[in-house]
Amino acid sequence: MTQDIRKTAATQSWDKAGWRAYPRVQMPDYLDPAALEAVESQLRRYPPLVFAGEARRLKSQLADVAAGRGFLLQGGDCAESFGEFSADNLRDTFKVILQMAVVLTWGAQMPVVKVGRMAGQFAKPRSAPTETIGGTELPSYRGDIINGFDFTAEARIPDPQRMLSAYTQAAASLNLLRAFSTGGFADMHRVQSWIADFVGGPEAAKYREIAGRISDAMAFMQAAGVNSDTAHQLSKVDFYTSHEALLLEYEEALARVDSTSGLPVAGSGHMIWIGDRTRQPDGAHVEFCRGVQNPIGLKCGPSTTAEDLKVLMAKLNPENEAGRLTLIARFGAGKVGDHLPRLVQAVQEEGANVVWSCDPMHGNVIKSSTGYKTRAFDSILREVREFFAIHKAEGTIPGGVHFEMTGKDVTECTGGVRAVTDEDLSDRYHTACDPRLNASQSLELAFLVAEELRARREGAAADLAAKAV
Ligand code: PEP
Ligand code: CO
Repeated sequence: MTQDIRKTAATQSWDKAGWRAYPRVQMPDYLDPAALEAVESQLRRYPPLVFAGEARRLKSQLADVAAGRGFLLQGGDCAESFGEFSADNLRDTFKVILQMAVVLTWGAQMPVVKVGRMAGQFAKPRSAPTETIGGTELPSYRGDIINGFDFTAEARIPDPQRMLSAYTQAAASLNLLRAFSTGGFADMHRVQSWIADFVGGPEAAKYREIAGRISDAMAFMQAAGVNSDTAHQLSKVDFYTSHEALLLEYEEALARVDSTSGLPVAGSGHMIWIGDRTRQPDGAHVEFCRGVQNPIGLKCGPSTTAEDLKVLMAKLNPENEAGRLTLIARFGAGKVGDHLPRLVQAVQEEGANVVWSCDPMHGNVIKSSTGYKTRAFDSILREVREFFAIHKAEGTIPGGVHFEMTGKDVTECTGGVRAVTDEDLSDRYHTACDPRLNASQSLELAFLVAEELRARREGAAADLAAKAV
């Protein structure tokens, strides 16, 4: 059956507005169609934020990840907000992602593909359409690109003008991220300076040790006269952006035709993903995403069936192109064993080419004793370990991790070596949506994932040696 779906998807025509004929969920009903159309028409005239060649390059790097020759690190805010937008925030998150990538590269001994949940991660699916506080019921907050966070009836009205503000913020963010990536900030020779000032404790000491060894290695290479090409490569990084393609009016307005291939591409970010609540095989979100050439992420949660996954893979990647599809597993600690094996087997049965990534955040949200929505560091780590263990048992590749994190010293997730307690949560709880790992928890987690990667590498080397005997 999936073969027929694949054939149909490969030949069926696609139009960027085609999703409008399909059932949509989690999207706002704008009250003023003329105001909406005016914004859409403005966005259609604006330049795309990313270029097709960059999305292609990311796809080819993800193809390496799928083959076990790289590792994907995707991370950033749950929801970017207009209020928290600043150069310092962007720099700090970028810095922590670089640090985490250094640690993971060290553990995996392979390239780490760096993708931010940044410069476009504004729209949020919600578990309930309304929210009640103190007896007042209002529509839920759906992210700054749709409505306002303040708990007032006025703020919660979806306002299409917000798309223009989001576009502007995404453009300015990308501009700075590009400057950081190539303008000297991300130069590997500065590896020792990426550590945030407030990060102390054992994870900072471990980071400094690795950074020191990297600096020594570079000094050695320089002394030994490595060519300037290599030095140049080490002076910049490839950094990509990603977000959930939830608000399809915005995505459609920024879709463009790639002049090189003549094919459609999403211009809103390098990689887009489909959320766990919007992955209906016959829904609007899948219809939109199937037609653009970008790498696509697909969240897989406890309710994802093997059959649904097969249909989704056939629709989203009919040519079985490597690097096109990243399956982002998010089940919750203690539940990975109940769900991941059937999905891994479905992928194997189809011979599908995918990157398997682990989002240990969205299945682990709890309410703390002090009333805050939080996640425990130990549950996050446990889910990552279960993910690695199952891939080892199935003989498949754990290709990446997906975190909600920030470079700031927030208190939103509990635990970590510099333990945040339930009582601490109220100190610096700034997220507009889900709780994020702070800089020190992010770095600590990177070390623990690096240990898993080292074990994977040593296991693979041992298997090879055993075969050779
Ligand atoms: C998210 O990544 O912010 C999100 C809402 O995830 P999910 O769709 O997996 O719940
Ligand atoms: Co989230």
